[in-house]
Amino acid sequence: MAHARGAPEPAANRRQAMCSRRAPRMLLLVHSAKQVVLVTNSGEKYVTGERMGRLVVWEEPGGISVAVDGDGKIAKVGKSSEVQSAYSHVKFDEVLDASNMCILPGFVDGHTHPIWSGDRVGEFEMKLAGATYLEIHEKGGGIFFTVDSTKERSDVELYTSLKHRLDMMAQSGTTLVECKSGYGLEKNEEMRLLKIIEGVKKECPIEISSTYCGAHAVPRNKSTEEATTSIIDDQIPELKNLIDSGALSVENIDVFCEEKVFDPDQSKRILQAGKDIGLRINFHGDELHPTKSAEMGASIGATAISHLEEISHDGIAAMAKTKSVAVILPTTAYVMKLKPPPVQQLIRAGVPVALGTDFNPNAYCLSMPIVMNLACVTLGMSMPEAFNAATINSAASLGRSATHGSIEEGKYGDLIILNAPRWEHIIYQLGNHHNLIYAVIKKGRVIHQKQCVSSIQY
Ligand code: NIG
Ligand code: FE
Repeated sequence: MAHARGAPEPAANRRQAMCSRRAPRMLLLVHSAKQVVLVTNSGEKYVTGERMGRLVVWEEPGGISVAVDGDGKIAKVGKSSEVQSAYSHVKFDEVLDASNMCILPGFVDGHTHPIWSGDRVGEFEMKLAGATYLEIHEKGGGIFFTVDSTKERSDVELYTSLKHRLDMMAQSGTTLVECKSGYGLEKNEEMRLLKIIEGVKKECPIEISSTYCGAHAVPRNKSTEEATTSIIDDQIPELKNLIDSGALSVENIDVFCEEKVFDPDQSKRILQAGKDIGLRINFHGDELHPTKSAEMGASIGATAISHLEEISHDGIAAMAKTKSVAVILPTTAYVMKLKPPPVQQLIRAGVPVALGTDFNPNAYCLSMPIVMNLACVTLGMSMPEAFNAATINSAASLGRSATHGSIEEGKYGDLIILNAPRWEHIIYQLGNHHNLIYAVIKKGRVIHQKQCVSSIQY
């Protein structure tokens, strides 16, 4: 019943209002941490240049706490004593003790190809014996092998393997991941893969940013020009219908811009057609050969360009001007023994540099901690540079850095609790992240937790 204006409120209503004013629902309190890696603390959307070499890390003798509200957002980060008194009247759904541990933001994996069937372990052997990526591709291996094998699998089989891979990424600390289609190539298969990714979004513990990558290779029955036309005139309009009807929520468009795949002009037309239906441009460029992909991408407002082993000086300058994010993929350069991408030149020029696993059957890596280690050891990044690249800058590569990529009040409570006294252990202890990560939290809910915590420093 409506209460008459001006008349005193009934006592029960008053009590309820006071109670809800005093005690909003809170999902999570993580308290007493030794260090918290905020990454940024003044709302930066990405970091560049010398700032990439600095990480905002907070340490307090009495420990630091993070409180997450009922919407899964960070409500407060502060000295444990202050957070305790601010919420002394509140019962949190979950409380975690992070004494002698560190709180990190969840990792953002800026580049993955996670939906496919048919591993390529045999090719790994060929690569070790010296075969190049394009030689394997031309012999019907590579992407074509995976496309054929994926076509044979049911929706349920692909759903199950995708979900399993995403669960494993979550256990390695990833809380937001870019997921590409691209092992369908033909319209119906590409849309099928995107729909399966869409279905997994509802069940998966981590968040997904979907990418349409129909131009991942040229189907065997088409010329490159025919494939380009079919993508622009047939696939992208179908994608738009599915997005408009609410069946899909795809955010990005990708093309493999490479010699003998899609040339820069064809890539540009495809990417522009995607942009025209509202997608962000985020594509593979300058990987195996210098094709001036970076210059082309910057000219059409690419949010991000991946790989860049063969980027030119002009390409670096163009990306620095448009602040297109360079998504660096150390696993690919490592597995294929490619020339390392010029990461320090990109950083010095002012390009925001991000990292991704590039998880795919050619480079089978699900772990951002391993990627950060490779980025430091094989590509010459410092640990703060790699950490910024794996969080705030990879969030920027997906247009999500207003809500993800750092521990700041108002952003999502995506956290990792690290059983180590200093954050650098997550990079330094190569391959030991499963032992170091005590808990992974997505929007204030614990999605992975180790049962037995030991304080042994492995
Ligand atoms: O990013 N370069 C194109 N795409 C993938 C490889 C995909 C595959 O080999 O299956 C990449 O490395
Ligand atoms: Fe890739």
